[in-house]
Amino acid sequence: MTRVAIIGAGPSGLAQLRAFASAREKGADIPEMVCFEKQSDWGGLWRYDWRTGSDAHGEPVHGSMYRYLWSNGPKECLEFADYSFEEHFGKPIASYPPRAVLWDYIKGRVERSDVRQYIRFETPVRSVSFNEADNNFTVVSHDHTNDVITSELFDYVVVASGHFSVPNMPEYPGYDTFGGRVLHAHDFRDALEFKDKDILIIGASYSAEDIGSQCWKYGAKSITVTSRAGSIGYDWPDNWTEKPILTHVDGNTVHFTDGTSTDVDAIISCTGYLHHFPFLDDNIRLVTGNRLWTQGLWKGVVFEANPRVFYLGMQDQYYTFNMFDAQAWFARDVMMGRIDVPDAATMAADSAEWLAREEALETAYEEIDFQGDYTQDLVDRTDYPNFDIAQVNAMFKEWKGHKKADIMGYRNLGFASTLTGTVAPPHHTPWAEAMDDSLESYLSDG
Ligand SMILES: Cc1cc2nc3c(=O)[nH]c(=O)nc-3n(C[C@H](O)[C@H](O)[C@H](O)COP(=O)(O)OP(=O)(O)OC[C@H]3O[C@@H](n4cnc5c(N)ncnc54)[C@H](O)[C@@H]3O)c2cc1C
Ligand SMILES: NC(=O)c1ccc[n+]([C@@H]2O[C@H](COP(=O)([O-])OP(=O)(O)OC[C@H]3O[C@@H](n4cnc5c(N)ncnc54)[C@H](OP(=O)(O)O)[C@@H]3O)[C@@H](O)[C@H]2O)c1
Repeated sequence: MTRVAIIGAGPSGLAQLRAFASAREKGADIPEMVCFEKQSDWGGLWRYDWRTGSDAHGEPVHGSMYRYLWSNGPKECLEFADYSFEEHFGKPIASYPPRAVLWDYIKGRVERSDVRQYIRFETPVRSVSFNEADNNFTVVSHDHTNDVITSELFDYVVVASGHFSVPNMPEYPGYDTFGGRVLHAHDFRDALEFKDKDILIIGASYSAEDIGSQCWKYGAKSITVTSRAGSIGYDWPDNWTEKPILTHVDGNTVHFTDGTSTDVDAIISCTGYLHHFPFLDDNIRLVTGNRLWTQGLWKGVVFEANPRVFYLGMQDQYYTFNMFDAQAWFARDVMMGRIDVPDAATMAADSAEWLAREEALETAYEEIDFQGDYTQDLVDRTDYPNFDIAQVNAMFKEWKGHKKADIMGYRNLGFASTLTGTVAPPHHTPWAEAMDDSLESYLSDG
C-alpha cells in the first residue's frame, strides 16, 4: 500500500489529513498516512505554548504565538470552504477572534473527520532521505513518549512544518552589554512583562505592529519602533515613536541612523523567521526566503527536483487556511494519480511565469490579487469547494484601509462570510479594552 508521511499537524498538515479524509468520504481508497508531530497536541502555532527555548524533551519550542493574540486579518478571509465558522460555533461571531477561538475552529473540522488516529504526537522527524534505487524515502523519527527512534519507508513526503518558528535574529553592536532583555518575537509571550517599560521594537511588519500594539494595550510606558523601512506608517498612539534603523546600543541607550537616541528597558527583535528544515537531505530541501512565490515548487506545492516531495504553506501569507487547503487537495490529487505531474521543463516554465509576475508586484493590492489568483488556480484543479476569491481579495483590501484609518480600532469592524453571507456582528467589547482573550469571554454576550 502507498504510504504518505506528513511532517507537522498544524493547519497545513491537518489540511492534508482532511483532504484525504474528504476523498475517503466520497468513496475513494486512500493511502496509508502517518503524520509526525513534534508537539503534544495539534494546531501548530495556534496551540499556545508557554514555554520558550526547549520543550520537555529538549526539542526547540515551535510556538511563536503569545497571550492576548487576536487574528490580525478578518476570519472571513481564511474560512475553510468546507466548514464555516457558523457551522462550528452554531452562531455568527465577530471577525477577529483571539487565538483560542481560532484554535477551536481548526480542531473542530478535523475532529469530525476522525483523523487524529493518524498522528504521532511528541514525535519529531529527525531525517528524511530519498532512496534513488527504490523511489522511496527513509524517514527517521523520535517517539519521545516511548523514547524510541524509528526508521520507516514512505512513498511520498509532505513537509508541513511551518516557517514562522525559527528566528531570524540580527545582531547590533552593544547587545552584549545591554542592561535589559534582548529577545526575538518567537520568545515573546506576555505583554504584561513590559508594563511601565520603555521598549524598542525592531522591524516593520506584522510582528512589529502587533507586539507593539499588545505592549501598548497592556500598559508599556513607551514604544519605539526602528526599521530599515523607517516607518510602518499608521497613525500610532502618542507614546509610540517610529525611527530609522538603529546603528548600535550603548548601555541602555539605542542610537539610530538619523543621529538621535533613546533609552529603553528591553529590545524585541521582530525581524522575521527562517525557512529551516534541518531534518531534510539537501537534495529535497527547499531553500527560500519569506515571499509570495517560492522557487522550485510547481504550483507552489510540488518539489520540482523530486515530485514525490510536497511543501505546504511555505509562502508569505495573506491567504492562510483556505490556501493551505487548496494546496493540500492538490498534493492529494497528485499522490492519488488524479493530477499528472508534467516533465521538469514544463514545471519550470510554469513556475517561471508565476515568479516573473511575483517579481513585478508593486503594491499590497497587487500582492493580494496575486495570491488570490494562485489559490484560485489550485481550487480549479481539484474538488475543493469553490469559494468567492474575488470577495476575499476585496475584503483584504478593505482590511488594509481599516488599518490605515485606525490601527487600534480595525479589529472592531466586521465582514461578510463568503460561505453563508452572514455579516459578522461587532464583538461585545472594543479590542483595545478587551483584556480577556479566552474562548468563553469571546463567545459570551459581554
Ligand atoms: C505570531 C504569529 C501570529 C500569526 N497570526 C496569524 C493570524 O492571525 N491569521 C492567520 O491566518 N495566520 C497567522 N499566522 C500565520 C501562521 O503561519 C498560519 O496561521 C499557520 O499556523 C501556518 O500553519 P502551518 O501548518 O503551515 O505551520 P505551523 O502552524 O507552524 O505548524 C507546523 C507544525 O509542524 C510541527 N513540526 C515542525 N517541525 C517538525 C518536525 N521536525 N517533526 C514533526 N513535527 C514538526 C510543529 O510542531 C507544528 O505543529 C501567524 C503566525 C505567527 C508566527
Ligand atoms: N495575529 C497577529 O496579530 C500576528 C502577529 C504577529 C505575526 N503575525 C504573522 O506572523 C508572520 C510573520 O510576521 P513577521 O512580522 O514576524 O515577519 P515578516 O513579515 O517576515 O517581517 C520581518 C521584518 O523583519 C525585518 N528585518 C529582517 N531582517 C532584518 C534585519 N537584519 N534588520 C532589521 N530588520 C530586519 C524586515 O524588514 P525589511 O523589510 O527591511 O527586510 C521585516 O520588517 C506573518 O504571517 C504575520 O501575519 C500575526
